[in-house]
Amino acid sequence: MRERNFIFLLLIFFLLNLVFRVDVSIATQGYLPRNAEIDHIPKNILFGSFAGGRSHVKPMLDVAAILIERGHNVILLTSGNYTPASEYPTVKQITLGPPMNLREIKGIRELIDKDFDFSRVSTIHEIAINTYKDIFEKYKKAVKEYNIDLLVCSAAMNDPCLDVGHALKKPVVGFISFLNALEPKSYKSDPIFRCNISMENESFLERFRCTVIQPLRMVNYIYPFITGLNDIRKQIDVEPVFLSVRRLTQTSLILVDTFFGFELPQPLSPNIQEIGPVMSEEYPPLSPELSDFINAHKRVLYVAFGTRFFTSVENNSKLLQSFVEVINKNIIDGVVWALVQTLKDDFNPTLNLSDGSQIQTSSILSNEHPHIHIASFAPQFAVLNHTNTKLFLSHGGASSSHESLYTGTPMLILPFGGDQLGNAEKLKSAGIALSLNKMKLDVNDIVNKMDILLKDENVKKNSKRMEILAKINSKRKFRAADLIEYILYSSNTNEINEEFLKEWIPAGTRMGFIRGNNYDVYGALLSIILGIVGGILWVTFKLIRFIVNRIPSSAVQKPKRE
Ligand SMILES: *[C@@H]1O[C@H](CO)[C@@H](O)[C@H](O)[C@H]1NC(C)=O
Ligand SMILES: *[C@@H]1O[C@H](CO)[C@@H](O)[C@H](O)[C@H]1NC(C)=O
Ligand SMILES: *[C@@H]1O[C@H](CO)[C@@H](O)[C@H](O)[C@H]1NC(C)=O
Ligand SMILES: *[C@@H]1O[C@H](CO)[C@@H](O)[C@H](O)[C@H]1NC(C)=O
Ligand SMILES: *[C@@H]1O[C@H](CO)[C@@H](O)[C@H](O)[C@H]1NC(C)=O
Repeated sequence: MRERNFIFLLLIFFLLNLVFRVDVSIATQGYLPRNAEIDHIPKNILFGSFAGGRSHVKPMLDVAAILIERGHNVILLTSGNYTPASEYPTVKQITLGPPMNLREIKGIRELIDKDFDFSRVSTIHEIAINTYKDIFEKYKKAVKEYNIDLLVCSAAMNDPCLDVGHALKKPVVGFISFLNALEPKSYKSDPIFRCNISMENESFLERFRCTVIQPLRMVNYIYPFITGLNDIRKQIDVEPVFLSVRRLTQTSLILVDTFFGFELPQPLSPNIQEIGPVMSEEYPPLSPELSDFINAHKRVLYVAFGTRFFTSVENNSKLLQSFVEVINKNIIDGVVWALVQTLKDDFNPTLNLSDGSQIQTSSILSNEHPHIHIASFAPQFAVLNHTNTKLFLSHGGASSSHESLYTGTPMLILPFGGDQLGNAEKLKSAGIALSLNKMKLDVNDIVNKMDILLKDENVKKNSKRMEILAKINSKRKFRAADLIEYILYSSNTNEINEEFLKEWIPAGTRMGFIRGNNYDVYGALLSIILGIVGGILWVTFKLIRFIVNRIPSSAVQKPKRE
């Protein structure tokens, strides 16, 4: 019996080997390499980002760098002079105007100072409307002048870039770091609606509020903006659209710089591709001074709020006081704070510690405190990458979060607005972070949370788990470049019309909301069921009436007891 089985297995193995060439022991001598090379015909690619700023542009340029290596020409259109362009010397930059400085834009200052939700984004919309025409012309000029074949547009706050591709019939690829607006799912929401990121354990009423009421309120808020923008579009002969990002989900490829584990899991359309975390191949090293400081401390807290954000004097002072207290309590033994947008004047002159003593901020800010290192700028990745850096106090921007996850550094997050609030919640649910409320900063709360993050074993385990996820996913920027090249080939051989990328875009997007979801079919089914149930009820009712009428009235009376 056993022999029979063995011979049978051997036979199957032999057949498999013949058919599928399953080679186990056969040496690969004489085999030839599979060739996966494709022709890289040099093309001109424009990368556009209105908001600009290093952390927003950098992931796009990391993809651009791969395309440049493959022989393509890349032009970057963004606000300001992207100073660290020295990191990408082969990218030519055209400026869209002065850099966005949050301190100088009145409404945005308010956006940072006050609690954030969708009702606050009107300021951003005003800026978008006021600059649309000018920016649109700049994009148009660049596309013509440099004979651009494809645009990669940062999809947040960048309607002119998305529209110019559409108007000039050039293929557009969207680039964004969050999924929210692209493919909404019933089980997800966002703090921008003042809702939980997950609807999993929410009550019926809460789900109703987050699914119906808040989105309707948001549409009500942004509707004047959409019509305002469309008025301007009509003036310059650009086709009006409800949201240019939504149009992109129906017509082209969107690259999303995120990954499951950070983002809550959900299915995506084939033309919406997760490619994050996009990381650079190389990062600037620690300065000798910073390197000495971090080497001399075993539990370092790194503090930075990205390239744009900053907080009030009161809150800066509370933060600095917390740092002194965590050092005194020996929870942390060193702090590195990259001030960036925070000025040295943005502090109270004295800090009143909870043990009653006082300390002068000026001495700390001039680096006289042995365990606090203040710098105006720090090479963030290298700081996080150092084994002695144990905690990151961050605003929770996408790039900072990715770098922290990649290096396995737990986070304490102080979100200011935008996607940062959602990121904070996602990182909390990944079990590697805690968050602070910018409206209610409290020194004891900060100290306690830092203590928890450093001691909790689960935080350590989750950080390691997320580090692996981030590392394996960081290779997907090459796929992003491949996909962009595919669009280039496709646009070379096909016209940009409704048929373009038909092999990629699901039919549902062309069928409309009702047909695409079969709601008409379900509607018909429901009417049939209701019809049948109604029919049965009607017949039953008639039958009962008939029977009741047939029974002589005496029989209905309760029979007497014998
Ligand atoms: C979201 O819901 C989870 C559990 O369902 C809860 O632990 C968490 O605190 C909630 N977050 C917010 C911001 O309400
Ligand atoms: C919802 O509750 C279930 C059961 O307690 C739990 O397993 C799940 O993680 C919770 N979901 C969220 C998002 O907190
Ligand atoms: C700082 O904290 C106070 C409350 O203590 C709050 O009112 C204020 O808006 C905060 N400022 C910023 C810029 O976050
Ligand atoms: C600390 O106390 C002094 C008075 O003793 C006060 O002038 C100062 O504003 C206080 N500092 C802070 C940050 O509250
Ligand atoms: C990050 O750390 C690894 C070793 O852990 C090291 O090989 C690498 O050079 C570091 N990179 C940077 C940018 O600091």
